[in-house]
Amino acid sequence: MSQNAYLPKLGRIAAIKEEVAGARAIKTFRIEFVNGDGFEHDCGQCAMISVFGKGESMISIASAPHIKDYKQFSIMRTGRVTTALHDLNVGDVVGVRGPYGNKFPVKDWKGKNLIFIGGGCGLAPIWPVVQTAVKDRGQFGKITVFYGGRSSRDIMYRNELEKLRGDVDVHLSIDAQEEGWDGYCGFVPANVMTKAPKADNAIAITCGPPIMIKYVIQNLKDLGFEDDMIYTTIENKMKCGIGKCGRCNVGKDYVCVNGPVYSWAALKDLPQEY
Ligand SMILES: Cc1cc2nc3c(=O)[nH]c(=O)nc-3n(C[C@H](O)[C@H](O)[C@H](O)COP(=O)(O)OP(=O)(O)OC[C@H]3O[C@@H](n4cnc5c(N)ncnc54)[C@H](O)[C@@H]3O)c2cc1C
Ligand code: FES
Repeated sequence: MSQNAYLPKLGRIAAIKEEVAGARAIKTFRIEFVNGDGFEHDCGQCAMISVFGKGESMISIASAPHIKDYKQFSIMRTGRVTTALHDLNVGDVVGVRGPYGNKFPVKDWKGKNLIFIGGGCGLAPIWPVVQTAVKDRGQFGKITVFYGGRSSRDIMYRNELEKLRGDVDVHLSIDAQEEGWDGYCGFVPANVMTKAPKADNAIAITCGPPIMIKYVIQNLKDLGFEDDMIYTTIENKMKCGIGKCGRCNVGKDYVCVNGPVYSWAALKDLPQEY
């Protein structure tokens, strides 16, 4: 009998880290597959995480493909399923099916300067590419990370970002001034414009709230980035994750299969309904 595509593998929560507190809480879950089950993934791919009896949600795999012992997911508490996930504890078992979606063409970027631009929870989907680029540091040019949150308490992966300094140019921002903050104050697209990364031999990878992505792309274009030098990953309503239900379609594309990773050259030709 063929395998049921909707049947999840079992994953045990090995660690939970509180990234951000408050109304828009984010927790990072380290999940280890039970009984040696599991799957490999590429940078940019996602998985459906299920809380039994509650439902499932599509979540980006936030750990790099070379990490084999576990998969990491950083999840914002937004509604029914994600709240149920936030209520779980270390040792609890969840369902994980995937990997789904396409990937960032990281191999094609060898020798190039990489500029990562993230906002809020949008750092999670691009984090595997950051980790991969840092692991294979010699294969890439200059690596720069721009990342912003609403306030200093909304900065996720804070320790990990600080550890990158030296190897990587890290530019953090918060929206409004706070005592003790020595990074940039203002929105992420404005921070990018202030530092004005060069477009020569560069690839820009961005993810965050749609409004942030819109202005980041506009600013990158002003800095001379061509459409095929800009990549993003889009979030859309998903149910099946495997191209069957039609819930995630944008124009001719099912985002769960053709996306979620797009170059701006490809994305700008799709209807702007995402
Ligand atoms: C490609 C992709 C990657 C994502 N990566 C992350 C991530 O790394 N971290 C993170 O916190 N969130 C991520 N999301 C968003 C996450 O899937 C939704 O926030 C989540 O499904 C909301 O579920 P809920 O039940 O808590 O919210 P509710 O608002 O209660 O959802 C109500 C219903 O809508 C469905 N729904 C709402 N939003 C979505 C959505 N975007 N996709 C599918 N179903 C949805 C839920 O399944 C539920 O049935 C991603 C979404 C996509 C499509
Ligand atoms: S989520 Fe069902 S077709 Fe994409």
